Amino acid sequence: MSSPNLLVKKLCKNFGGLQAVNDLSLALEPGERRAIIGPNGAGKTTLFNLISGAFSPSSGEIYLFGKEVTRVSPHRRAALGLARTFQITNLFPNLSLFENVLLAVQALDTAKYSALRPVSFYRHLEKRTYELLEEWGMREKAGELARNLSHGDQRQVEIILALAGNPRLLLLDEPTSGLSPAETSTVTEAIRKLDSNITIALIEHDMDVAFALADRVSVLHFGSLLAEGSVSEIKDDPRVTEIYLGGE
Ligand SMILES: Nc1ncnc2c1ncn2[C@@H]1O[C@H](COP(=O)(O)OP(=O)(O)OP(=O)(O)O)[C@@H](O)[C@H]1O
Ligand SMILES: [Mg+2]
Repeated sequence: MSSPNLLVKKLCKNFGGLQAVNDLSLALEPGERRAIIGPNGAGKTTLFNLISGAFSPSSGEIYLFGKEVTRVSPHRRAALGLARTFQITNLFPNLSLFENVLLAVQALDTAKYSALRPVSFYRHLEKRTYELLEEWGMREKAGELARNLSHGDQRQVEIILALAGNPRLLLLDEPTSGLSPAETSTVTEAIRKLDSNITIALIEHDMDVAFALADRVSVLHFGSLLAEGSVSEIKDDPRVTEIYLGGE
């Protein structure tokens, strides 16, 4: 029996008197696609910050690929195979698409190699960068400045950056936020086509996107897990409708 790729046990995070994450437990099986939904301020991004190690929890435990990482640095969690994207666009606007991707590839690769950098090492980074751009149909845009790319392209590039280190677990924080309907469907399709071995947790406000991509859905409300189940179970759960419609 395989252990979950992500296991969160009784996780809590307080900011002063505010309980942003409250006694939250989750398990993601290898290859699973999990949507995490919930109203603004429910604690979704905080949960990602705890999983990635940006924040340390007030209490509780986090395991990645069967290994406890509750107090492990973000860098070491990344080295284990965790990657994330951010709710807010995070590219270098004045660097080209190629340079943005190259930096991500290099950042993840230098950990694995010595300080000695023959020319062949640089070529290997360039090759990987072009491969990623090719896979995502963006090679012809390699020379464009990041700030001149469409919003939809920028969000795709963020996913490419997260994939640069071949992660086994990918956390996507609202990958379609601010996108037009056409861009949303392009990004949704790109996520759907990701290697099925990659386990994905996806925070999403767009229910159509969440329900289209997820195997299971976890619903957060005031930092706690309100409901969890298959897409159809969550769609039919009156408590979920209540928190989205009741609070308006
Ligand atoms: N660094 C911080 N310091 C203090 N409070 C914080 C911090 N980060 C988040 N919070 C608070 O914790 C709560 C949960 O925030 P979080 O960003 O996790 O919500 P969210 O579910 O991602 O919301 P949204 O859908 O708006 O992105 C909010 O009340 C927020 O104001
Ligand atoms: Mg958020």
